[in-house]
Amino acid sequence: MHYFIKNIETPVIKSFVDYWDIEKDNFNKNAKDNGMMHLINYEREFFDMMLGEYYNSERFNSGNIFWHEHPYFPHVDLWDSNNKWNVVVPLVCQDDDQKLIIFDQTYHEAATWVGDITKRSFHGNPAIYKRICDTPGVEGLTGKPCPDHLLEHLPYSPDFYHGLSGTAIDWEVGISIEFKAEYIHCSGKMNTPKIGSANFLND
Ligand SMILES: [Fe+2]
Repeated sequence: MHYFIKNIETPVIKSFVDYWDIEKDNFNKNAKDNGMMHLINYEREFFDMMLGEYYNSERFNSGNIFWHEHPYFPHVDLWDSNNKWNVVVPLVCQDDDQKLIIFDQTYHEAATWVGDITKRSFHGNPAIYKRICDTPGVEGLTGKPCPDHLLEHLPYSPDFYHGLSGTAIDWEVGISIEFKAEYIHCSGKMNTPKIGSANFLND
């Protein structure tokens, strides 16, 4: 098991959303993702106030509230060597079928796999123009097609996800999802915009 779910109390979620509502127009306009994601970064003090009773805030490296309306590509957030764990907190979603997909496969550098998808160019974690299964350094590949229970939630062609396995976790407001930073992850298909909090923690 490489992920852990905790229940997060409603007042905490509400405080996050209130902060977003105040700050949302101040999102980072220089984020290197062509505006795919709106990010409001916050400091350890804010993390401690929000999630300090759930996670030791001394582990905090960085965190943000994010908004997006298109599914985020498979990636690993290892731009900082202290990012050992990700904690994702769903804050807003109107779609009961929304998922966070955590694959069983790992990679040990920052990366975003765009394959030959040209719909939207992307320059966040460095883009890799190959399939994940064709990328040297990816560990845990199955050598088999990605199973249907994941493909039904994934936005691109089955071929793009060849060799992957994993878990589709409900994007449920009221939980947090903690997983090891080297695990490749992405959003499932999206019908409505969503808002969440992403936190990058040390061990
Ligand atoms: Fe991520």
